[in-house]
Amino acid sequence: MNLGIIGLGYWGPNIVRNALSVSSIDRVVACDIDESQLAKIKAKHPEAEITNSVDKLLADDGIDGVVVVLPVDLHHPMAMKAIAAGKHVVLEKPFTSTVAQGLEVLEAADKKGVITMVDHTFLYTGAVRRIKQLTQDGTLGNIFFYDSARTNLGLFQRDCNVIWDLAPHDFSIMNHVIGKKPVSVRAMGADHVGRGFADVAYVHVDFGDSTIAHFHISWLSPIKERQTVIGGNKKMVVWDDNNAAERVKLYDKGFSMTAEAGKHPAFQYRNGEYEVAQVEQTEALALMLEEFASSISEKRQPLTSGADGVDVVRILEACERSISLGGEAVNL
Ligand SMILES: NC(=O)c1ccc[n+]([C@@H]2O[C@H](COP(=O)([O-])OP(=O)(O)OC[C@H]3O[C@@H](n4cnc5c(N)ncnc54)[C@H](O)[C@@H]3O)[C@@H](O)[C@H]2O)c1
Repeated sequence: MNLGIIGLGYWGPNIVRNALSVSSIDRVVACDIDESQLAKIKAKHPEAEITNSVDKLLADDGIDGVVVVLPVDLHHPMAMKAIAAGKHVVLEKPFTSTVAQGLEVLEAADKKGVITMVDHTFLYTGAVRRIKQLTQDGTLGNIFFYDSARTNLGLFQRDCNVIWDLAPHDFSIMNHVIGKKPVSVRAMGADHVGRGFADVAYVHVDFGDSTIAHFHISWLSPIKERQTVIGGNKKMVVWDDNNAAERVKLYDKGFSMTAEAGKHPAFQYRNGEYEVAQVEQTEALALMLEEFASSISEKRQPLTSGADGVDVVRILEACERSISLGGEAVNL
C-alpha cells in the first residue's frame, strides 16, 4: 500500500520511521504545513516523499490511506476530508474530541466503504499482547479486578485534563484485555493550577458484574508509575512498564474457600511464586501500520477499529461529566 502521514510534530516522525520499515508499505508521503518539520524528515529519511499540501496528498490517486497525527481538535475535520477523498484513515489517539464527532467519522467511512482505525499503540506492544493471551486462554480465570497507575510530574497539557491526556491508553487496554463493555464510570478529579483542567484523577469503572476497575492518573506525582495489576481467580498479573527486565509477572496467588455445613467458610491462601512472562520486542507502531495495511487488503476491521476509538472517547466524555457532577456515576 501507499501511505500518507499528516502531521510531523512530536509523534508524526515516529510513524514515518516505522512506516518506512514495513514491507507492505511501498510509498511513504509525509505532510505538514510547517516547512521546517518537512526539512527535518527529508534530512533523516531521504526515501520519504514530502509535501506541504494536504489537498495534493489527498488528490493523489496512488495513496490508499493516511495516518492523521494532528492535535485532537483537527482529527475530525481531517478525517472527514480524507474519507471524502476515498482514503482509508488511521486517527491518532484519542480518536476524536467528542463521541458525536467519532460517530460522524464512522458513518462517513461506512458510506464511502473505507476503513477507519485508531492508533491505540499499546495494544500492539509485546506486553499487552501477552496479557491478552493470558486472559483469553483462561490462565487468569475470571477477572476480579483491573488496577492501573499512570503517574508522573507533568507534563501539563495546554488544552485538556490529565484523563484525556493519559487515560486513552489505559481505557483502550482495559477494553481489549477484559473484553467486556463497561457500563458506567465514576471519576474524581482536582485542578491545582486554576485552568479548569484536572491534573490528578481517580476513575472507577463498573462492568455491571463483580469485575471492577480503577485508574490513578496524575501529572502531580513525585514518581513515574506505569503499573497495571490484573487479578483473576486463577492467577494474577503485574505489568510494570518501567521494569524492562521483568515487565510482565505472572503470580500464582489467590484464595480458595471451604465451607462446612453450618460453619463460617475457611479461606486458604495460595502464596505461590511468580514467573516472568516472555514478551516480544517488535516495535508497536510497525505492527500497528502492518495491521492497517492488512485490514485494507483483507477488507476487514482492524484490531483497533474506529469503533474501538469511539468506545474510548465515550469513557473519556463520561469521566469529564462525572467530575463535573462531583463523582456521580455516569452511564456509558
Ligand atoms: N499513540 C501515542 O502514544 C501518542 C503519543 C503522542 C502523541 N499522540 C497523538 O498524536 C497526535 C499529535 O500529537 P503531537 O504531540 O505530535 O502534536 P504536535 O503539535 O507536536 O504536532 C502536530 C503537527 O501537525 C502540523 N499541522 C497542524 N495543522 C496541520 C494541517 N492542517 N496540515 C498538516 N499539518 C498540520 C503542525 O505543524 C505540527 O507539526 C495527537 O492526537 C496526540 O494525542 C499519540
